[in-house]
Amino acid sequence: MTSEADQHLGEAVAARIERRWTMLSIVIVGLLVGMATFIGVHQATMPQGRVELANPGTLHLSGEFVESNLGTSVEADGSVVVRAIGQQYSFTPQCIVVPADTPITLRTTSADVVHGLLIEGTNINTMLVPGYVSELPVRFKKPGEHVMPCQEFCGIGHQGMWGKVQVVEKGTFTSMMASRRRASCVD
Ligand code: CUA
Repeated sequence: MTSEADQHLGEAVAARIERRWTMLSIVIVGLLVGMATFIGVHQATMPQGRVELANPGTLHLSGEFVESNLGTSVEADGSVVVRAIGQQYSFTPQCIVVPADTPITLRTTSADVVHGLLIEGTNINTMLVPGYVSELPVRFKKPGEHVMPCQEFCGIGHQGMWGKVQVVEKGTFTSMMASRRRASCVD
């Protein structure tokens, strides 16, 4: 038994509930937009989780990238690390020697402007940005020689900025390292 008054009351309640849900969905949408905005702005303004800095002005004076520390080394934990820098218009060392079939960490930076480091015949391709260390895990399947051109325009001498990578047998590398702390194919 429904009187007209009851029906009016029912409609009013329905309208109120509808308004409430409308408000709630607007609040939810607002919250989501707010969260997305916050995350976007936060990510854009915060530095990346792992950024390593290297002052290009003092590279040659102290720290990891002094000339005597460049080239290939076997670290205390047995891992192979190659450190190199790019500058107008060469790489130091000019020729990198690495063992074949071995995980290698390539750590590079620039002493002046942005350079690129590309090792032909591999998928190794990284940028050397002044002020930052570029770290890249690399592995060479078999012995051989690769050219390593600068692949980022860095000035008038860019075309002539080349390096070389010599991949040698593991055993050859081990005996090379027996008598020295750093290796490169020029020495
Ligand atoms: Cu260095 Cu192009």
